[in-house]
Amino acid sequence: MQLLRQASALAVASILVIACGDSSSTTTDSDSAGTDSTTEGGDSETAGEDGRKYYDGAESIALGASGNQVSCATCHSDDGTQAGHSGNTFMDIAYHESFKGNGADLLTAVNACVTGWMGGTALAESDDAFVGLKSFMESISSVDATTPNVVAPEVLDDELAYEAAYGGGDAAAGADAYATSCAICHDNALMVGAVAAYPKASLMGYTTGRIAQKVRTSGPPPSGALDMADSTPGPMPFFEVKDVSEADLANIIAHLQGG
Ligand code: HEC
Ligand code: HEC
Repeated sequence: MQLLRQASALAVASILVIACGDSSSTTTDSDSAGTDSTTEGGDSETAGEDGRKYYDGAESIALGASGNQVSCATCHSDDGTQAGHSGNTFMDIAYHESFKGNGADLLTAVNACVTGWMGGTALAESDDAFVGLKSFMESISSVDATTPNVVAPEVLDDELAYEAAYGGGDAAAGADAYATSCAICHDNALMVGAVAAYPKASLMGYTTGRIAQKVRTSGPPPSGALDMADSTPGPMPFFEVKDVSEADLANIIAHLQGG
């Protein structure tokens, strides 16, 4: 519901952004220059709250292709929650030494999502949206959290290997896991960039390998193109084991196959 409301606010919001520019920054600056200026955190938290709209507001959705309905918040939590989210939580993310994509910096990582999943145009470092996102992330991050993220989507050899890894799940338990990780897109035909998520009913006839490889790599069913280059070809994001456990994925598959 909320996502749909955000999406219909999109047209209005983007007109406002163009027409008004960022008129809020003057007010905010004078606010934070006042009473709170004793701690460094005061300023950056204010700026961070200003930047939040690029994480979960219409301004975030507007970073994607025309018709896009997802924001960063569709895939990334801001409170440390990992389950059910394909992307890493933004809590404690700002000061990592490197980001997904072997040493990428924050701008490169953000742009991979803006262009790759959301179908939008890459941001420049000085764009309000990137400045806002960065200060929002900093406001919820500890400078001591610097561990880089290693992305390792799992790719198995063939249908038999997927069947061995993900066959025999519990369909009843899978209903809950599906609701946590998949329903937000597949029950709402949500537009990810320029592509709508297929309705749940159309996922139900697929083999175990086809569903599991899609979830783990975003890629096509076992096809011979089994390398990292094939890991993000679709607008659907991929879920690593930390995002959807092996048991949860087996259960989701049993649920989809109507077991
Ligand atoms: C459709 C889902 C999706 C959307 C929308 C999305 N991301 Fe991501 N993002 C991912 C996935 C999947 C990854 C890679 C997996 C991971 O984070 O471990 C990722 C990775 C990242 C990373 C690197 C994380 C790390 O620890 O290396 C950053 C930073 C990031 N995204 C920022 C953003 C921002 C900012 C937005 C909104 C403008 C956004 N993402 C929108 C799915 C998404
Ligand atoms: C952020 C939105 C989003 C989430 C969350 C999501 N999907 Fe998808 N999914 C898509 C989109 C968009 C497509 C169609 C485009 C594509 O193939 O990437 C798709 C396609 C698929 C397909 C079709 C693959 C094929 O070979 O035709 C399967 C199967 C699937 N999703 C399963 C899942 C499962 C299971 C989950 C939960 C673990 C899930 N999806 C979570 C957006 C999403």
